[in-house]
Amino acid sequence: MAKQNKALSFLSSDMKLPNGPQSPAIVQMLQWIATPMSFMEACAKRYGDIFTLNLIIPIVIVSNPQALQQILTSDTKEFAAPSDWNKQFETLLGKNSLIMLSGEAHKRQRQLLTPAFHGEMMQTHANTIRNITENLIRDWQVDESFSTQDSSGTQLRTQMQVITLRVIMQAVFGLYEGDRAKELERIIGVMMDSGANSPLRALFLYYPALQRDLGKLTPWGTFLRRREYVNELIYAEIAERRQNFDASRTDILSLLIAARDENGEVMSDEELRDELMTLLTAGHETTATALTWALYWIHKFPSVRYKLLEELRSLGNEFDINAINKLPYLNAVCNETLRIYPVGMLTFPREVKEAVNLCGYDLEPGTVLMGSIYLTHQREDIYTEAKIFNPERFLERQFSPYEFLPFGGGVRRCIGNVFALFEMKIVLTTILSQLDLELVTKQDVKPQRRGLVTGPNQEIYLIVKRKMVENSSL
Ligand code: HEM
Repeated sequence: MAKQNKALSFLSSDMKLPNGPQSPAIVQMLQWIATPMSFMEACAKRYGDIFTLNLIIPIVIVSNPQALQQILTSDTKEFAAPSDWNKQFETLLGKNSLIMLSGEAHKRQRQLLTPAFHGEMMQTHANTIRNITENLIRDWQVDESFSTQDSSGTQLRTQMQVITLRVIMQAVFGLYEGDRAKELERIIGVMMDSGANSPLRALFLYYPALQRDLGKLTPWGTFLRRREYVNELIYAEIAERRQNFDASRTDILSLLIAARDENGEVMSDEELRDELMTLLTAGHETTATALTWALYWIHKFPSVRYKLLEELRSLGNEFDINAINKLPYLNAVCNETLRIYPVGMLTFPREVKEAVNLCGYDLEPGTVLMGSIYLTHQREDIYTEAKIFNPERFLERQFSPYEFLPFGGGVRRCIGNVFALFEMKIVLTTILSQLDLELVTKQDVKPQRRGLVTGPNQEIYLIVKRKMVENSSL
């Protein structure tokens, strides 16, 4: 709260922040919650690459690649990546979550977690991802009586959520079956869904004043009871694993139990719980949404699907994960999906640590900035016809990490970025090589805030037209 008061003092001080809309804070806040992308676009049109929103506290929004580079590459000097601004996640993720830490504590925790996300570890997850996808799509039924109004088609987002939740559960806990795993999968799915369906649910996370336990029938009361239950399940699993530790296991929990920091310290149970919860939460909804968009675009434009299938055919019948990872057109489709409507529309907040000049503005310590991934990806000077889905742009030129930044950058760059891209490629390859799908949803789908991610504004339906060779090795 002290932080917020400090930030609020900008409003009354003489300090010059970049221009921005003058409407009352409450009006801006409502626009920000209900229609953040069109609000940001309108502001960028009027005020340019850097502007200030008054969201009760002033937040400077940046979409200039040079400025983003300045912010993200010096985020330990002029700009800090403080955790104070991520406080809203603490109730769910816990105070030891990577997202909640900053400075040395953040560095230590990232070092402990990083080995679990190394390239070679990804190889161990490849077969799991493919098996989970195959098991799920096996149940998708062929329906020749295709009709644009037919709502019996496969509801894409839900199906993708099932895949990504199972994948992250397996990656985090290992080959993991039984009642506890099933319960965890179920309850985490329920918690994520109830947080994601309505943009207004995000209010509970942003405004601590609303976080009151008024009984199990109220939204916050329900959330707290579910969280307690998840904690019980996770702590029971940690205790069991510590007792029967198996050094040959490659799941993230086993790696973290064995991990030592530079002083030889192991992670406490509470640290383990918070990190597992962080990975389960951050690694599931995001990738499910990215996959939903990818399948939408691929089936909206038959030429994209055709080119992808041509490229997949070049692989032959082998499930060669290295070859899949290197396919240029598949990579371009994934990148263009994450460019046009980035799942995370903003970086986490950064705070000015030492007085600095950014885009001609002298910013004082304490100023809070956020990189607008969405606005940067919509810049016409970088992406010609930015509103059009065009994977070829990623084959024609290379974009800098500050022009294309779906996973943010600097010290808080998404730790799961390699995992997410890898998962997207395997799931897409498995689905496209086994099923002939058609898009049922005909109207244009637009992005909207869904809790903390940016997802489609309507459910997307696909229908199975034909099943290709059953159990093909690709
Ligand atoms: C398509 C999928 C994903 C997208 C678009 C995405 C995007 C992002 C973005 C934009 C950030 C903020 C970076 C910044 O402020 O500079 C972030 C942070 C983070 N992501 Fe992801 N993410 C995805 C998948 C994942 C996965 C699969 C995991 C874990 C398994 C994960 C774990 C995290 C964590 C732990 C952080 C916080 C890092 C820190 O504070 O040091 N994400 N992600």
